[in-house]
Amino acid sequence: MKSALILVAAGKGERLGLGIPKALVQISEATILEHALSVITNLKPIQLIIVAPEDHLEVFQEIASRFDVSAQVVAGGATRQQSVKNGLALVTTPTVLVHDAARCFTPAVVFEAVDAALIQAKSVVPGLPVTDTIKQLEGDTVLKTLDRSTLVAVQTPQGFEVASLRKALDEATADFTDEAGLMESAGHTTKVVRGSAKALKVTTPEDLQQFNRPSQRVGIGTDAHQFSDSGELVLGLLTWPELPKLEGHSDGDSVAHAVVDALLTAAGLGDIGSNFGVDRPEFKGASGEVFLNETLRMVSEAGFSVSNVSVQIVGDKPKVGPRRAELEKRLSEALNAPVSVAATTTDGLGFLSDARGVAAVATALLARRS
Ligand code: CTP
Ligand code: MG
Repeated sequence: MKSALILVAAGKGERLGLGIPKALVQISEATILEHALSVITNLKPIQLIIVAPEDHLEVFQEIASRFDVSAQVVAGGATRQQSVKNGLALVTTPTVLVHDAARCFTPAVVFEAVDAALIQAKSVVPGLPVTDTIKQLEGDTVLKTLDRSTLVAVQTPQGFEVASLRKALDEATADFTDEAGLMESAGHTTKVVRGSAKALKVTTPEDLQQFNRPSQRVGIGTDAHQFSDSGELVLGLLTWPELPKLEGHSDGDSVAHAVVDALLTAAGLGDIGSNFGVDRPEFKGASGEVFLNETLRMVSEAGFSVSNVSVQIVGDKPKVGPRRAELEKRLSEALNAPVSVAATTTDGLGFLSDARGVAAVATALLARRS
């Protein structure tokens, strides 16, 4: 990108009402500032200026230093316009983009479109067609209905020729909510390029809630054990007295073990071997249910809840159909989440076809708690 970029992030976030600057508010795994910087870093602006609240300069500096970009952090002012002015004082390029940190999910294409359009215009904004009907009011009475085909909702980044913006800011006699408004008042023409629905500004607690929808993660697990020649089969936490126990340490419950791996991988916590191996001897020989309970505890501690689990049992025996409902009930109770069970044979192929063992494949879907 040929322009410098001023990221205005000095606002108090009063409407969010969280008592911290809006740019430091967390959305999912990162702060608003970090989300914004993730996009910006990839754009490689030739100069990046972050305008931060005066009393938070160090935190902003520290966060910026974790990104692969060299940024100058400068204190903002009481109004957005003053913050932009403070940032602009450091700009050394002919063109600049001014972007709200609060629009932290603005896609890179919008920045690129604004930057590119600065070749033909001194003032460029991204805009989206208005989909609601807009009415002009006086008090609570409608004066008239505006023709929405002539309207756009304007976003950031807004792009400017630096010299013109500097002059307009120096000569401003009023406070504008965006720089394009200021440029218009100074007699400049503003061009509109296509904005993005993703460039929504985080302003109210409701916006935050919408962005904070739980992120989801999926995991997969497989396990197979062969029948021994004694004992009783334990599969899916149920006993099947007509078949012998499966071999392997513990009760050999390949369904429980596949589900454990699915849950652990979904949460990014490793697998059954790395969690219940030699360094946790208390789990030696533990039942499938004990593994499941401990896995559930770990997954929950990592901030996830189980949305659902699906298991497929692969093998000629046991016949799952008659006990499917019982299996689903038992596993769903153990996980406190819906578990569905399918079964299949292998058409005479492989080690499972002559009833020598039982395999299971499981997938788990987790939701990050907000
Ligand atoms: N901004 C700024 N300096 C100010 C005011 C606002 O840099 N004095 C920045 C904000 O950090 C934000 C953008 O301008 O990225 C848009 O402002 P707004 O959404 O109003 O954010 P806040 O001012 O933080 O929120 P509020 O008005 O609710 O306090
Ligand atoms: Mg504000």
